[in-house]
Amino acid sequence: MKVQRNGAADVRICADPDELAARAADAAAAAINEVVAAEGRCSVVLSGGSTPRGFHRMLMLRGDAIPWEQVHLFWSDERYVPADDPRSNYGMAKETLLDHVPCPPSNMHPMPTASLEPPEAARRYERSIREYFAGGPVRFDLAVLGIGADGHTASLFPGSRALLERTRLVLAVTTDAEPPTRLTLTLPVLTSCARVWFLATGAEKAAAVRTAIESGDASPAGVVSAAADDVVWWLDRDAAADPGARRNSGGLNEM
Ligand code: 6PG
Repeated sequence: MKVQRNGAADVRICADPDELAARAADAAAAAINEVVAAEGRCSVVLSGGSTPRGFHRMLMLRGDAIPWEQVHLFWSDERYVPADDPRSNYGMAKETLLDHVPCPPSNMHPMPTASLEPPEAARRYERSIREYFAGGPVRFDLAVLGIGADGHTASLFPGSRALLERTRLVLAVTTDAEPPTRLTLTLPVLTSCARVWFLATGAEKAAAVRTAIESGDASPAGVVSAAADDVVWWLDRDAAADPGARRNSGGLNEM
């Protein structure tokens, strides 16, 4: 693994997705233990899509190296589908992590996607976040996010009015993605997390990753990366490559 600073961003380049998942899981275990030792509990925001699957499996394999009884899990966004729908972010986490670790169900805080209209579901999730932080400052200990090839993160997509939100913590949004209706944490929440990690693999992410790291305000992921206090980009070689160069030549580590 190659570690470098690129401006304020800490970029960790791994050989492949498997090394990335293992290294990020090791770092997550260390961070969670550090926070639990200091605070007695640790709040972790998970995201969806496919990239986190390997990371979740590596977390699961670290078993009792992580004090799951003191870990609280939240989500950065959710597709507005039932939890058993194959597109559900919670459902993916349940399959790859939650069903295999002793995290108490009361510590799992999935976004509500049944029986409520999306805007009410967003308000309810916002209330649950504020309750967790007992009305004090909302500051998750660790957010593990992804990035789309268009630079979106969570369900904050380029050009979305949700990017202008400065007070609400959670919004219901309609996107061009599938499925279109989603709940998402807003920029004020994501940028206030104590630690923000982006996990990205594959050549199709290289351009969005470079834009996010080099030109913060050009994409939702870039805005979060530029504004958060402690950001790590976990990349495999393909996602770290220079999108304009020939394959395997140039890249973030050549910057
Ligand atoms: C979602 C995610 C989203 C994801 C990116 C990358 O609900 O889809 O939260 O922000 O992180 O779309 O997805 P992949 O990991 O599948 O490329």
